[in-house]
Amino acid sequence: MRTDNRRDLILFLLALILAGSGQNTKEQKEMWQSTFGNVGGKKVFLFTLKNSSGMETVITNFGGIIVSLKVPDRHGVIDDVTLGFDSLQSYVDKHPYFGALVGRYANRINKGTFSLNGKTHQLSVNNGGNSLHGGVSGFDKAVWDVIENECIPGRKLVLFYLSKDGEEGYPGNLSVKVTFTISDSNALDIFYSASTDQTTVLNLTSHPYFNLSGAGSGDILGHELIINADRFTPLNEYNVPTGEIIRVENTPFDFRNPKAIGERIAQNDPQLVYGKGYDHNWALNKKEKEFSFAARVTEQRTGRILEIWTTEPGIQFYSGNFLDGRFIGKGMRTYNHRTGFCLETQHFPDSPNQPAFPSTVLEPGKQFESQTRFLFSNTK
Ligand code: GLA
Repeated sequence: MRTDNRRDLILFLLALILAGSGQNTKEQKEMWQSTFGNVGGKKVFLFTLKNSSGMETVITNFGGIIVSLKVPDRHGVIDDVTLGFDSLQSYVDKHPYFGALVGRYANRINKGTFSLNGKTHQLSVNNGGNSLHGGVSGFDKAVWDVIENECIPGRKLVLFYLSKDGEEGYPGNLSVKVTFTISDSNALDIFYSASTDQTTVLNLTSHPYFNLSGAGSGDILGHELIINADRFTPLNEYNVPTGEIIRVENTPFDFRNPKAIGERIAQNDPQLVYGKGYDHNWALNKKEKEFSFAARVTEQRTGRILEIWTTEPGIQFYSGNFLDGRFIGKGMRTYNHRTGFCLETQHFPDSPNQPAFPSTVLEPGKQFESQTRFLFSNTK
């Protein structure tokens, strides 16, 4: 073959390879990112994170919502184990925080008011006179920016939100970054970091509703739960902590050994009456800020196990008491009473008004950091 011909052939083959890889990149991009819609003129996307062990999760930059989370059961059967919707509009409309990032303050602040450095702040109230989950329009309703150069398509999604000074009544411009990472050990890790230009309070969480036998497949009362906590924070009749941190011994709040969620839920215990079931914060057994085991849920029929690890001092266990069949979820499935549970890693509710609780104050110049892991496995 003459040199010229050989050169042409090489160039032709190179062009073919490049065209092929271009195709792949486009396909890969489409697999990673697709359009979900628009909110307030801002583009909203779906991002797919996938590992090599059969786990896949779809997350949107609207509210940082985990739209789906698919994991294998004991026999390798994959199911979506989180409650949610098919359409963006259903997430824009009022809903009980399905899958969402919650902020600036997860759970309740009494009467939506607190004092910092001698100044009283009034938040917007949205829950019987209290402020719940950030107020009327919390982080769950924000369109987050995607930090593209920090994402790893298919593996890692990095979101950013600037919560402006005065938003929902909170002081300080707060910059928040949330990173979702999937790993081959069937873990979804959520890293939170934040900084502020004025002293403020914050408490961030992710609010997926789980049903380990598959979203929309029945109630969660048979799921077995362990919570690594000797104590919990009891509520008053308005679902705000009394300020006490009491022992779980001899109460239906003792989940130190595995117990079915439904086993004691109907007991005539004033705390269960206030919460309409479980809707309480447990004070985790841990050393300050250590990343440690918080809770485990096992569903015996499918063999699915969810373990939760966190750096946070508390976890809100909510047994889906307000689900009542009003919400039609993914695949037209109805979410009836207690068909999903939440385990929201957090600082304790109403900490800004409770000096004995771990502090939720963030000062300018300090970096807030937090990590939570949802780890899936199966019984043998
Ligand atoms: C948290 C709250 C509950 C409820 C749910 C969502 O768990 O403590 O009272 O608001 O979120 O509905």
